[in-house]
Amino acid sequence: MEGLRQLNRCPAEHRVALAPGRVNLIGEHTDYNEGFVLPMGIDRFVAVAAASRHDGVLRAHSVDFTETREISLSDIEAARRDGWFAYVAGIAWALRESGAEVTGADLAITGDVPVGAGLASSAALEMAVARALCAASNTEWRAEAMALLGRRCENEFVGVNCGIMDQLAAATAKVGTAALLDCRSLEMTPVPIPEEIVLVVLDTGVRRRLTTSSYNERRVSCERAVEVLREVYPEVTALRDVDTASLREVEQKLDPLTYKRAMHVVAETVRPVAMADALAVGDLVYAGELMNASHVSLRDLYSVSSRELDAMVATAREQQGCFGARMTGAGFGGCAVALVAASEADRFVREMPLRYEANAGQRGAAFVVRPSAGARLV
Ligand code: GLA
Repeated sequence: MEGLRQLNRCPAEHRVALAPGRVNLIGEHTDYNEGFVLPMGIDRFVAVAAASRHDGVLRAHSVDFTETREISLSDIEAARRDGWFAYVAGIAWALRESGAEVTGADLAITGDVPVGAGLASSAALEMAVARALCAASNTEWRAEAMALLGRRCENEFVGVNCGIMDQLAAATAKVGTAALLDCRSLEMTPVPIPEEIVLVVLDTGVRRRLTTSSYNERRVSCERAVEVLREVYPEVTALRDVDTASLREVEQKLDPLTYKRAMHVVAETVRPVAMADALAVGDLVYAGELMNASHVSLRDLYSVSSRELDAMVATAREQQGCFGARMTGAGFGGCAVALVAASEADRFVREMPLRYEANAGQRGAAFVVRPSAGARLV
């Protein structure tokens, strides 16, 4: 990462923090329904160098956006909440709201997680900034608490009603494993990636903006479904508590769109557990089938896929050695992920962009991602 070399040329008295992007293997749009997800930290990072200052000013330079912005911590509520700096200011705001001491700081930021591509670049930025600010302010780093704080930054400061998956992955990921996360209890179970497979990220080349209303709208549909379900099943507090049979029972009470959205979530929320089991016993064919089923559901029921994602996934599945493929992350553009035999990975990565371009008329990219550690100082 050229940017990281630049950060290391910063003056003395600075700390450098790294946090990874993530790829979600399965369990999409289930986190804010208190269900299961199966993400892994990837070997693409956001890096933040921090030097503390004592005048209460937070000043940040983005190497990649070639922009410097600053805010006085006492004015942080009034900060303009746009672009990359919203996440930086939002983390300082959330840290202060939690009662942590945050001194001012100079930050320099760079990264190689593609932005707006479904690989959680904003959570990587948040957790790298949080890790760096904690170091600069001598605040204790507690990974899970910082993930919750990152979600608060997104929900209350930036205005995206996201769930906990991305921040939890960026904060707590472990080398060599994905993690089955229970988004209700926040319990995390490591799921080692078998040696005979690799995860390949397939970038459609089309970017989305998560802050568009579509994401928040999906969440509202889920909440509406829960309200109606509670009339029949008062014990239900989230879609996590429902199975497909109980949902079918109340179909007549829900408008067709809300029913479709809820059906996706209810079916999807058990797939991460099934996939974790499949990976544990090396049943790669079944793991791939689960990914394929997840994509169909996201496309047809949750309506968050795109023409390019569908083309990418269809192209991937035709290739030798591909067990399954699906869109990953929020959707509306961005990346897909494929489960590929390690022995076929080189050829797959070489050929996929050509075949995708021929099928979709759009330039894309393919790269292997390795399971990497969560936010840390380097
Ligand atoms: C985004 C959000 C996550 C999650 C996914 C969809 O990445 O930040 O909380 O909801 O979309 O699974």
